[in-house]
Amino acid sequence: MTLARTWGVGLVGLVGQLVTVEADLSAGLPGTAVIGLPDPAIIQSRDRIRAAVLNSGHKWPDRRITLALSPAGLRKSGAGYDIALAIAVLAAAGVVPAAAAGDTVLIGELGLDGAMRPVRGVLPALLAARAAGRTRAVVPLANLSEAALATGMTVWGAPGLADLIASLNGENHSMVRGVAVDSALPAAGPDLSDVLGQPEARLALEIAAAGGHHLAMIGPPGAGKTMLAARLPGVLPPLDDEQALEVTAVHSVAGLLDEGTPLITRAPFVDPHHTASQAAIIGGGSAHIRPGSVSLAHCGVLFLDEAPEFKRPVLDALRQPLEDGAVLLARASGVVRFPARFQLVLAANPCPCAAAKDVDCRCGSTERRAYSNKLSGPLMDRVDIRVDLPALPPSILTSTVQQGESSAVVAERVLLARKRAAHRWRDTPWRRAAEVPGSVVRRAWTPDDGQAELLDRAVRTGRLTGRGYDRVLRLSLTVADLAGRDRPCIADVASALALRCAEAL
Ligand SMILES: Nc1ncnc2c1ncn2[C@@H]1O[C@H](COP(=O)(O)OP(=O)(O)O)[C@@H](O)[C@H]1O
Ligand SMILES: [Mg+2]
Ligand SMILES: [Zn+2]
Repeated sequence: MTLARTWGVGLVGLVGQLVTVEADLSAGLPGTAVIGLPDPAIIQSRDRIRAAVLNSGHKWPDRRITLALSPAGLRKSGAGYDIALAIAVLAAAGVVPAAAAGDTVLIGELGLDGAMRPVRGVLPALLAARAAGRTRAVVPLANLSEAALATGMTVWGAPGLADLIASLNGENHSMVRGVAVDSALPAAGPDLSDVLGQPEARLALEIAAAGGHHLAMIGPPGAGKTMLAARLPGVLPPLDDEQALEVTAVHSVAGLLDEGTPLITRAPFVDPHHTASQAAIIGGGSAHIRPGSVSLAHCGVLFLDEAPEFKRPVLDALRQPLEDGAVLLARASGVVRFPARFQLVLAANPCPCAAAKDVDCRCGSTERRAYSNKLSGPLMDRVDIRVDLPALPPSILTSTVQQGESSAVVAERVLLARKRAAHRWRDTPWRRAAEVPGSVVRRAWTPDDGQAELLDRAVRTGRLTGRGYDRVLRLSLTVADLAGRDRPCIADVASALALRCAEAL
C-alpha cells in the first residue's frame, strides 16, 4: 500500500466539513509536500508529525510523501489535522492497517514527543462528521468528554500517538472510550435574596427574564445595578438540549469549555469590560477567528456594565447582532458566521462623575447630555425596559429583616410565564414576546378602548414614540404572562408603559 486515506474536519465558524486526508508515498527524493489550501500551521505539521512518529517509536518512511487535503477549495487552518496526517502517512507505509485508519475521523494536535494536545472546536467538528455519516472518531484525551456529547458516535480519547497506532493494530493501548454523561445543572451563582430594596428594578429584571426583553438600569453607584444583573442567569430557565449543544459549540471554538463538564446547560452570562476591544466583543482575530462576547452570550445575557464608558464603535457594532441574532465576520478567506442571539442588559450611572446623590453632581448639563447620548439612539431603541434605581437609603443596608425573594421563587414564576408565552406563540416561529415582530403582536392582541386611550395619551404627550408603542404591547403581554392572564388587563398596560418610559437617558 502506498496510498492511504483518513478523515479530518475543517471548521469555518461553527460549520464543519469533512476533509479527506490522503498520503501517497513514492520513489524519489525523500521529503514531504502538503497540497490543498493549507495554512502555514499545517505546513509546519510536516515537521511536527515526523518528530511525533519517531518519538512514538515508529519509523518515518524514507520516501517522497505527498499529503493532500480535500476539498481543495476549503481553507484548512490550525493544528487539528496533525493526527489525521500522521496516520495517513503510517497507513500508506503499512505501519497501521489502511482499512482501520480510513474508517475513523481523527482530530488532534501532536506534540513533538507524540503526546496528543487538545484542540478547539471538537464538538462542532464531530457534529458535522456525524451529519456526514461518520460513526467513529479519535480525539485527544483532554477533548474526550466534549467529544462524547456527539451522541450516536463512537469516540475514543487517545493520550498519545503511540496508543492510537497500537489500537489500530489491535495491540494493547490506553485509549479511553467516551461515554455521554448527563451533566447536572450547575449552581446558579449569586442569589436575588441578597438584593435589598429596589422593588421596581427587581420587577423589571423578572419581566426581562420572562419575555427575553433587553434591559437598561440607570442609577447612582452602589444602588445594586451590577448585583441585579449578575442574578439574571439564576432566574432564567435552563437551556434546552438544542441550545445547550449550540452554546457549547460556540464556547468550544473559543477554547473555553470545562474539560470535566463541558456541556453548558445554563444561560451564559458574559460581562466584557468597557476597555475590551471590538474584536473581543464582536469577534475576530487574525490567525484564528474567535467568537466574541456577543456570541459567547448566545442564548444568555450580555451585560455591559458602565455602558456609556464603552467605545462608541463598539456600541454601534452591537446593532447588527441585535438585529440578526448572529455576527458576520469578514475575512480574506470569506465570511464567518457565529450565532449571537443574546439578551442585552445595560447599566449606567446617570452622569460621568457618578455622584451618589444628584446634589453632589459636578457635571455640567452638556456633559450629562453627552454621556447619556452615547447610549441613546439605535441601541436604546432596542431596549424594551428602562428602569431607574434610586440610591439606597442607608437604613435599608443595616436592617436585618428586609430579605428579598430568592432566585428560586422568581425563577419559578419566570418559567411559568415562559410556558404561557410559548403556548401563546405556538403557531409562530417565536417563543418569547421580545422576539415577536410588531405586526404579529398586533394581530395576536388588540388593546381595548381603555388601554388604547392610555397608550394614545402617552404618544400624544411624547412619552412614547411610534417604535416604543410596539414595545409596550410586547411588554404588556409579558406582564400578563407573569400574572397568569391570557390577555393583558389595563393595569398590565400601565405597568408596561411605566417600564418603557422610566424617565432616564
Ligand atoms: N440593593 C442592594 N442590596 C444589598 N446590597 C447592595 C445593594 N446595592 C448595593 N449593595 C452593596 O453595594 C455593593 C455595590 O453594589 P453594585 O451592585 O456594584 O452597585 P452599582 O452597580 O449600582 O454601582 C454591593 O456589593 C453590595 O454590597
Ligand atoms: Mg456597578
Ligand atoms: Zn455628575
